[in-house]
Amino acid sequence: MKDRFFKKDPFQKQAKKDGLVARSYYKLEQIDVKFDLVPKEGVVLDLGSAPGSWLQYHLKKMNAKGRVVAIDLNPLKIPADNRVTFLQKDLFQTLAQEFTQFYGKFGCVCSDIAPQTSGDRDRDHIKSYELCMKALDIACLTLEEQGSFVCKMYQGSESQNFSQLLKKHFSFCKIQRPEATRRQSKEIFFVGKGFRS
Ligand SMILES: C[S@@+](CC[C@H](N)C(=O)[O-])C[C@H]1O[C@@H](n2cnc3c(N)ncnc32)[C@H](O)[C@@H]1O
Repeated sequence: MKDRFFKKDPFQKQAKKDGLVARSYYKLEQIDVKFDLVPKEGVVLDLGSAPGSWLQYHLKKMNAKGRVVAIDLNPLKIPADNRVTFLQKDLFQTLAQEFTQFYGKFGCVCSDIAPQTSGDRDRDHIKSYELCMKALDIACLTLEEQGSFVCKMYQGSESQNFSQLLKKHFSFCKIQRPEATRRQSKEIFFVGKGFRS
């Protein structure tokens, strides 16, 4: 059943053709085309990076001056690139300074970080919400003034709270569900622009 579904998925097919490690690439691409979050030069922090399709997007958009600092519990499955600094560790065990020590503050913080799903939607939502709160906390400590933020969450009871919180820190906030999101998925993406500390 699962195989049949994946065979029909056009983004899965396209990702294979385009040499991407995951179809999630297109979600970031679709959000970025709309909101222009990822800077061509400048520094991006990528939270929850493995296997590396969002990094593939950053590297494609960025010029030689662009840099990415990335973190995940798991290793990347893309070739090493001198524009990427990767930390393989737990976000909850990482301090903001560990990210800013390389190039200073970021023009954009992107989070695709997500818990292992259990099938229990409320439980998965709460775990996802906790990861989003940590991502926002890190973003507030590491973003440049006017910087941008994008963050995935499995939707649920706390989504509205998160949206309200975002409005305190960003002059522009939107919730997005890009076309590449699977129909049955509960995920949504929060977008913030114009960070104010
Ligand atoms: C949907 S995947 C990310 C996909 C990636 N953005 C891409 O485009 O290839 C979510 C990732 O979050 C990572 N993750 C979950 N909890 C984490 C934590 N506490 N610290 C670091 N990474 C975590 C997982 O290991 C997983 O690789």
